[in-house]
Amino acid sequence: MNTQLPKGRGAISDGKDTNLNEAPTRFITKNAKTLVIYFSRSGNTEYQAKIAQKVLHADSYELIAKNSYPTDYDATVSRSNQEQAGSLPQLVTDDLPNFDQYDLLLLGSPIWGMTLANPMQKFLEQFGSQLGGKRIAEFTTNAGFGAGNAQRVLKELVPVSATILNDYTIRDTEIEKTNDQFKDWLQQTGVSRILCK
Ligand SMILES: Cc1cc2nc3c(=O)[nH]c(=O)nc-3n(C[C@H](O)[C@H](O)[C@H](O)COP(=O)(O)O)c2cc1C
Repeated sequence: MNTQLPKGRGAISDGKDTNLNEAPTRFITKNAKTLVIYFSRSGNTEYQAKIAQKVLHADSYELIAKNSYPTDYDATVSRSNQEQAGSLPQLVTDDLPNFDQYDLLLLGSPIWGMTLANPMQKFLEQFGSQLGGKRIAEFTTNAGFGAGNAQRVLKELVPVSATILNDYTIRDTEIEKTNDQFKDWLQQTGVSRILCK
């Protein structure tokens, strides 16, 4: 596991999460009932996604943009602003697993512009309509300003038959100090899947 997180608001990408140097995570089994879908540019959300995958014995799929984000923070902010004002980025989704297998989806995303990061918004725009009847929870990492309207955006982009569970958000600089808190949330989320089946 990456123990040197880029952390703060101005973090440059570690270059591993923009598919520049490393294949994106594709951990897909035949039996898992939980799927973690996440996007992470500089590694903070990926750090949590790895914990979520282990704690919930989940499958895991990393979203990547067809055109990778820059490693430079300011250049990323500039592109993100343009996308949020115009159109969201194209994603690589040809190997996306079939959702039928899963009853719980965990969506992991950084907060960009006080909402879900653009690739996660794009994922929900494209595939949210296929998530009817699922239990869905999102976890986000932020630079100290909270989760913004992430939960509302999620609700708007999935069918009403989906059950949205409590979300989790954590400041980037606090992630490593709060692993236990995150694991508690994961346990609660996992239990809710089992109890409500
Ligand atoms: C384009 C961009 C926009 C951001 N906007 C916000 C924001 O509105 N509020 C906030 O608290 N943090 C913001 N951040 C900080 C990230 O949410 C935070 O550092 C996060 O942990 C990065 O996750 P990652 O390492 O998984 O990419 C922004 C970061 C970027 C790159």
